[in-house]
Amino acid sequence: MVILGIETSCDETAAAVLTNNNKRITILSNIVASSANLQAKYGGVIPEQAAREQIKSIIPVIETAINDSRLTISDIDSIAVTYGPGLIGSLLVGVETAKTLAFLWNKPLIPVNHLMGHFYANWIENSQTDYRLLTTAISEDGRQKTEDLPTFPCIGLLISGGHTDLLLFKNHGQYKYLGGTRDDASGECFDKCARLLGLPYPGGPAISKLAREGNPSAFDLPRPMIKSDDFEFSFSGLKTAVANLLHTSEVKKSSYTSEVKCNLAASIEQAIVDVLVAKTIKAAQTYKVNQIMVAGGVAANEKLVSELATRCKSLAVRLSVPPPELCTDNAAMIAAAAFFNYHPVNPLSLQADPSLAL
Ligand code: KG4
Ligand code: ZN
Repeated sequence: MVILGIETSCDETAAAVLTNNNKRITILSNIVASSANLQAKYGGVIPEQAAREQIKSIIPVIETAINDSRLTISDIDSIAVTYGPGLIGSLLVGVETAKTLAFLWNKPLIPVNHLMGHFYANWIENSQTDYRLLTTAISEDGRQKTEDLPTFPCIGLLISGGHTDLLLFKNHGQYKYLGGTRDDASGECFDKCARLLGLPYPGGPAISKLAREGNPSAFDLPRPMIKSDDFEFSFSGLKTAVANLLHTSEVKKSSYTSEVKCNLAASIEQAIVDVLVAKTIKAAQTYKVNQIMVAGGVAANEKLVSELATRCKSLAVRLSVPPPELCTDNAAMIAAAAFFNYHPVNPLSLQADPSLAL
C-alpha cells in the first residue's frame, strides 16, 4: 500500500509518500517547508501568519512529495491527514486540501491525531536515516541503525512544543494515559527560557547548542515534581526560576558574558532532562515494561537521548528514538500512523479539531 501523508498543524507544511512491505514502513519522499524563520523574527508562532504560509506552501509541497517519490497519483492508495490538535487556521489548510484531493482522486481518507502521529516516527524504516536507538547496541553518535522496531507493552514519552505526556501502550491504538504536564510542556519550557536568554525561536535547538559549551551544574535550578508519586510534570516553575535568576546581582554583575549564557543554557537543559528521564524510567519500572519509545520535537535533544540511553542500558530496557528530522513535525509520521490505524472516513464529513486530545 502507498499512503500520501499531509501535516499542517502549526508552522510546518509537510507531505510525504510512504509504502509498506510486510510490516516494514519505508519513506519514498518526505518534504517539510517551515515558516520557522519567519516566526523567529517575532519570537514565536503568530497563528494568522502561520496559516497564510501554509496556504502558499501546501500545493507545491504535495506536488514535490509525489514527484520525489517517483510515483504517480494513480499509485497512491490512500491519503492520511493531521486533523488536530493544532492551530485552527493551519489545520484547516491541510484538512481541506486532503478532503478535496481524496474526493477528486477517489482515495480513502484517514484522519490522524498529530500527537499519536509523533509516536509513529518510531515505526518508520528508512535506509538512509534509520538510526533508531537500541540499548543493546548504541553507536558512538547515540543513535543506531537497526532492524528492530518497538515492541509492546511499551512506555511512550511524548515531548513537543505543546505536550509532555507519558502513555502505556499495549498495542497499536490501545494505550493508557499515565500523566502529563499541569502547565508548560517541556518544549515550551525550552522556548520560553530561550526567549528569556535572548535566544531565537525555536528555543530547544538554540539552548542545546549553547549548552554544549556550558557547565550543567553551574546554576542550581529546580527539578519540578521530579519526586512526585505520579506521572505528572510541571515546567512553569523552572521558567520562573530562570527569570528570577536573570534579575539577581550575580548574573547581572557578570554583565551576561557568553560563559554565563552557556552555563545557564546547560543548567536549564540538565534540569529538563533530569525530570524527563526520572519520570520515564519510573513509568517503565512501575509497569514492568522493557521498551520505551520517545517522540516529539524535544526527542531531537542529544543530551536527553544519551542520558536516557545510559539509564535504559543499565536496566536492560530497550529504547527507541526516531532520527532528529523525524522527531520534529513531519508528514512521514502521519502516513506511518495511518498504516497501523487504518480507519477511513467520508472525506466530506471530516472536520479539523484544534483541541483534539490523545
Ligand atoms: O514536535 P514539534 O516539532 O512541534 C510540536 O508539535 O509542538 O516540537 C517543537 C518543540 C519546540 O518547543 C522546540 O524548541 C523543541 O521541540 N525542540 C527541541 C530540540 N529541537 C526541537 N528541544 C530540545 N532540544 C532540541 N534539539
Ligand atoms: Zn508536533
